[in-house]
Amino acid sequence: MSFRIQPAAPARPNRCQLFGPGSRPELFEKMATSEADVVNLDLEDSVTPADKPQARRNIIQAINDIDWGKKTLSVRINGLDTPYWYQDVVEVLEQAGDRIDQIMIPKAGCAADVYAVDALVTAVERAKGRVKPISFEVIIETAAGIAHVEEIAASSPRMQAMSLGAADFAASMGMQTTGIGGTQENYYMHREGQKYWADPWHWAQAAIVSACRTHGVLPVDGPFGDFSDDEGFRAQARRSATLGMVGKWAIHPKQVALANEVFTPSEKAVTEAKEILAAMEAAKAAGQGAATYKGRLIDIASMRQAEVIVRQAEIIAGV
Ligand code: COA
Ligand code: MG
Repeated sequence: MSFRIQPAAPARPNRCQLFGPGSRPELFEKMATSEADVVNLDLEDSVTPADKPQARRNIIQAINDIDWGKKTLSVRINGLDTPYWYQDVVEVLEQAGDRIDQIMIPKAGCAADVYAVDALVTAVERAKGRVKPISFEVIIETAAGIAHVEEIAASSPRMQAMSLGAADFAASMGMQTTGIGGTQENYYMHREGQKYWADPWHWAQAAIVSACRTHGVLPVDGPFGDFSDDEGFRAQARRSATLGMVGKWAIHPKQVALANEVFTPSEKAVTEAKEILAAMEAAKAAGQGAATYKGRLIDIASMRQAEVIVRQAEIIAGV
């Protein structure tokens, strides 16, 4: 192992990020009272160009007026390839109060994209005397983003989270699909008359998790477009959780409970993790580095695995 200790990601729950268009202010109260850990007020792709100025005003008012409880409150700005993003940053940070926590940068393609937003945010913070530093989250959703994923994860001390954006990612990669996440009909292995579906998002997710874990950033799975398919959502979310992601977006309120269910370690998993830790403490006290638990090997690495689950449960419980 490198002598550098892997930094911990921010110790806050991020099981579900609920999105809503900035142009639909009637949804904001519902987002605030939802069970999502993170709320993302959107200025980007769910808002038409003509609606952007009004959406900014709606969001500023909502940040100031609505009780967002303990949620992480994030605003998704427009991409750096648009004429909108600088006004998103300047207007929101000049006019909104301290309750905003985070800015989400879509279509991040390289570390310099984050640097550019950081420079602008820093200038507005200083000009306005903002005391609470704004944190950043990015979406990896382009070929450039995934090619430069590690430098993006390391790009700024403001960086807290990174999501995979399946739809734009598929478009940028030239993938032959209009599906937003989940199983893709034509991505299968074939043997003896049977089809076996594989996961075309796997490698991008694994690349994001590894970049995030290297630099202490939370890895998050993005949208699952078919909000009528609960089992499809669960399957996608369970794969993401197994790979090390901490949460998933909801693009409809009915997906919030599904994400919370999958990304909250079950009582059974936490009990088992605690039993592994106890069994290893007993083994260590007896001078052993390895032991047997339920007929299988556990050793000191098993303690690190168990600690991940116990720590995640503690963060969610607010410890
Ligand atoms: N947040 C909170 N509440 C929401 C919501 C959201 N994003 N979307 C819908 N609701 C509410 C509706 O107001 C309705 O409430 P009611 O029962 O009190 O009337 C209820 O949930 C059911 O909504 P439904 O009629 O099924 O949805 P809709 O047709 O109004 O909207 C979408 C469907 C997909 C257009 C909408 O959910 C949406 O805009 N999602 C987010 C899109 C987005 O932000 N995309 C960018 C990130 S990918
Ligand atoms: Mg996108």
